[in-house]
Amino acid sequence: MKPAGTPWQSVCPAQELVPGKFVEFRLQQKAAAPDSMPLTGFVFLDNGNPRAYLNICPHLGIELNWMPGRFMDSDNLFIQCSTHGALFKPSSGECIAGPCQGEALTELDVRERNGDIEIRVQG
Ligand code: FES
Repeated sequence: MKPAGTPWQSVCPAQELVPGKFVEFRLQQKAAAPDSMPLTGFVFLDNGNPRAYLNICPHLGIELNWMPGRFMDSDNLFIQCSTHGALFKPSSGECIAGPCQGEALTELDVRERNGDIEIRVQG
């Protein structure tokens, strides 16, 4: 029998996810180490499609944003780590500049179900 995947988690009503908005959430799934901080993530519309990543910079493992809901650089082109300025492509999470160049944000599965945006950790 196939093992059950990570359960889907509702993070916000789909109508709340408007262009340019970043919705942050805390994952129900715990981080690998039992005493580590709870995992957080964010979801946004990427060319009209919901896309979600863990809110962890691959460089130092800290959250990307200082301000709630603020993830983009000043040109509104790339997701930016506010600590050291690394830039990530919104469509792939790939870091194209900064100390973690070549690495990528961790993408989450995302879907719309019963009017809600749901996410889960990719298996
Ligand atoms: S922690 Fe984000 S670039 Fe260093």
